Amino acid sequence: MKELLALNVYFRRYAGKMLFGVCCIVLSNVVGVYVAVFVREGLNEAVLHRQTAAGLGGEALMGAVYGAAAGFVVLLLLAAALKGLFMYLMRQSIVVVSRKVEYDLKNDIYNHYQQLGLSFYRAHFTGDMMARIGEDVSNVRMYVGPAVMYFANIIFTFITVIAQMLMVNTQLTVWVLIPLPLLSYSIYHVSKIINRRNTDIQNQLSVLTTASQETFAGIRVIKSFGAESAFFDDFSAKTEEYRRLNMRLAVVNSLFFPLMILLVGISTLMVLYLGGRAVEAGTFSAGNIAEFILYLNMLIWPVASLGWTTALVQKAAASQKRINEFLEHEGEKDGAAVLPFQFNKEITLRNTEFTYPGAAKPALSKINLTIPKGSILGITGKTGCGKSTLAQVLTAQISPNSGEVLFDEKTPGAFSRKDFNNHIAYVPQDVFLFSDTLAENIAFGLAEGAETDEKIAEAAAQAGLARDIAQFPLGLKTLLGERGVLLSGGQKQRVSIARALIKDADVYIFDDCLSAVDADTEKEIITSLTQKLQGKTAIIISHRLASLQAADHILLLDEGKIVEEGTFSELVRAGGSFSELYKLQSNTNYLC
Ligand SMILES: Nc1ncnc2c1ncn2[C@@H]1O[C@H](COP(=O)(O)OP(=O)(O)OP(=O)(O)O)[C@@H](O)[C@H]1O
Ligand SMILES: [Mg+2]
Repeated sequence: MKELLALNVYFRRYAGKMLFGVCCIVLSNVVGVYVAVFVREGLNEAVLHRQTAAGLGGEALMGAVYGAAAGFVVLLLLAAALKGLFMYLMRQSIVVVSRKVEYDLKNDIYNHYQQLGLSFYRAHFTGDMMARIGEDVSNVRMYVGPAVMYFANIIFTFITVIAQMLMVNTQLTVWVLIPLPLLSYSIYHVSKIINRRNTDIQNQLSVLTTASQETFAGIRVIKSFGAESAFFDDFSAKTEEYRRLNMRLAVVNSLFFPLMILLVGISTLMVLYLGGRAVEAGTFSAGNIAEFILYLNMLIWPVASLGWTTALVQKAAASQKRINEFLEHEGEKDGAAVLPFQFNKEITLRNTEFTYPGAAKPALSKINLTIPKGSILGITGKTGCGKSTLAQVLTAQISPNSGEVLFDEKTPGAFSRKDFNNHIAYVPQDVFLFSDTLAENIAFGLAEGAETDEKIAEAAAQAGLARDIAQFPLGLKTLLGERGVLLSGGQKQRVSIARALIKDADVYIFDDCLSAVDADTEKEIITSLTQKLQGKTAIIISHRLASLQAADHILLLDEGKIVEEGTFSELVRAGGSFSELYKLQSNTNYLC
């Protein structure tokens, strides 16, 4: 339960409204007791008048009886209306607070997610993150709102109603209350079973959602392999399981209400039987029986909800635990680092090493490197040799396990994170486009309001997109569809490049981002890039050696190490792996 203490800040934030809600609960209970009292008094008066005016007979007798009870009927209606008003205000304050807390909590979690580093995202599934900000927050809301409200209501109803019952008849009160703990306990038990089965249903639902999401995302592959029926069978099996779980829940649900009504019925029967005998003995009135049945009805819901409320609190505690787990993850600190990003001389890597968590061997080992400001560095090497890892270390997306990355002797952590990111334009190997227009996707690299049509068109042209855009009927306003499905692989890569070029950065990193365009176009684009990036520092990663001809310095990586380095002609002349590769690519016309 201590997990729920994390919510105290929110309770404190809305303490006034919460307190007002609790006051309404107290008042609605006090007024509620008067409803029963007025019924008793009215009925007793009516019975009394029926006896005293028995001689009148007929119409006159009825008139006398109605007259005696009329005042109490008015009071009764007033009390019931007041109780209704207080209950309305109670819900209006506490349930509204719970919605506000839900809103705040969601925003806080979302903000926290945004501050978490990439290592967090590598270790967690998107679905899990969505569940914690969605379903888990909803469970917590049920605690902040309904559970707290019902719990306070239970306490005050018990105090007011049971005190009143004891004042009227102690012995009958004890008898009537005996089945109630049993009711509460069994409801608690049934609620737990319902919750468990509900969780199974939720889990199965997320299996279904993931399966359908994956099917739609991979529909091109599925169709081209003619695998529709296999996917359909798999989906049918999953929906069948979902149906079975829902039916299991329906069975318990259908037992729930009859069980409640049975136990309540036993208590009512006891009031009638024992109360009836007391009336015969002259120690109880007919009004008392009616009053007791009303008290019993007032107690039933709180007793029933006690089990339900406890289950809600347990569920909320489990959810809050999951939320806290993520909130406790340290975000990327930007506290002390306020320096604007700047470097005048060089970027240096000293003995930089990095091993992915759980990996057997390092992705980068003992990298020593100097990149003078304004130069172009080319990186090549076999697949899996550590090129992308090196790019991510340079962009401070991952921190080396040992060694350093320095911008004029300053680590990336010394700079304001935002400013650092603004000055480093990184084109990742995996393109990600948003389901927005081409223009918006390119302007993504700029601050809100800084984008202009000219800038976007210029960046698109520099990335070699001008011809493609001219062919789109809506030009830059073309909608790209989910993840840019409407573009070819090479077009997507060039949009990603344009997104980086539109930034006025100091360092540009292109991670194999022209692999999907033909060799000629790649060379053409790289030539225009190197012209545009005069005076800027650029790092070009490519498998095609011809693309690296413009580089001032080239690294050949193998298994995380620099195995050869130098200028293009030096490497070709050296007769090592680079020159072998160069010959191979020339012979296979790879260079065109
Ligand atoms: N998130 C990760 N977790 C664990 N290991 C990883 C992860 N990403 C990469 N690796 C491993 O680290 C090594 C270097 O990967 P990296 O992505 O840097 O290669 P690369 O040179 O960019 O390859 P490619 O040319 O195919 O893009 C590989 O052996 C790879 O399996
Ligand atoms: Mg890579």
